[in-house]
Amino acid sequence: MTADSAILVTGATGKVGRNVVTQLIDAGASVRALTRHPHAAALPAGASVVEGDLSAPETFAGSLEGVSAAFLVWPFLTADAAPGVLEALVEKRVRRVVYLSASGVRRERARQSDPITQFHADLERLIEEAGLDGPDGLEWTFLRAGGFASNDLGWAAQIHEEGVVRAPFGDAGRSVIHERDIAAVAAHTLTHPDHRGKAYVLTGPETLTTRERVRIVGDVIGRSLRFEEISSEDARAQYLADGWPVSVVDGILHAHAEMVTAPEQVTPAVEDLTGAPALTYRQWAIDHADDFR
Ligand SMILES: NC(=O)c1ccc[n+]([C@@H]2O[C@H](COP(=O)([O-])OP(=O)(O)OC[C@H]3O[C@@H](n4cnc5c(N)ncnc54)[C@H](OP(=O)(O)O)[C@@H]3O)[C@@H](O)[C@H]2O)c1
Repeated sequence: MTADSAILVTGATGKVGRNVVTQLIDAGASVRALTRHPHAAALPAGASVVEGDLSAPETFAGSLEGVSAAFLVWPFLTADAAPGVLEALVEKRVRRVVYLSASGVRRERARQSDPITQFHADLERLIEEAGLDGPDGLEWTFLRAGGFASNDLGWAAQIHEEGVVRAPFGDAGRSVIHERDIAAVAAHTLTHPDHRGKAYVLTGPETLTTRERVRIVGDVIGRSLRFEEISSEDARAQYLADGWPVSVVDGILHAHAEMVTAPEQVTPAVEDLTGAPALTYRQWAIDHADDFR
């Protein structure tokens, strides 16, 4: 990668991508930040904002000239649009792709356990196929992230209104990860050559149950919050009412039910790759305290 080549960040206005943009700029990289809504993006002044839609690669293919690496986030529930995006990257000679995948991916299985894990596995396979070892192929790295701590921002309205969090599976153990750590690994792997063909499982530094996370958020914002466990059936009805496809909802609930008896594990990948210990959930809650106040 030459010093004057640019890095494309997709999902640049999202929780992870926004941090990737900032960290790459801080590291002196030239960044092109993709969004469908440039005027609302509020991205750092150091980023060059590119308008485009990942479901229609022709909308941004012209902005790929001089791009040598891309951070790829996939904001859809199927891989249908992925071949077009990968063709555009290969055609414009983008050499390196760091893909934000999911820790549930088990590539040795013919089918994944739920539709979300399935599209991530499908994306990984398509990226590998685009990366056939020819001179024009892609160098890929997969960041298989565990649950994001930022999923808990979904509690904010209930906390504001009632000081309560209602959720299923209060004893599900998750090793949730701070979005800044995912971004730090992304920024590192985008700018260093030694991660070609590697898949890293990224987690936070500790496994905490849902109840424990609610208690930590309460501690941090100085309120005693209540956790009320709701049944899996009630949670299912709520997700469906919110418009989630039934197979996605059932996959999520099944995964959470399993985490009660088989809590998620912690991996050392964040520290191994960045040299800094993974950020704790308490730190995440401190960083987001205003969202819960
Ligand atoms: N949540 C988890 O626990 C978890 C775990 C593992 C992996 N993941 C993966 O992480 C990814 C989400 O990352 P995030 O939470 O940082 O994102 P996010 O905060 O949900 O933001 C979504 C981003 O996707 C962009 N986007 C949406 N539709 C788009 C389109 N049609 N074309 C171009 N850009 C589009 C949005 O950009 P604009 O609106 O500005 O266009 C925005 O930047 C997903 O692929 C998810 O599967 C999540």
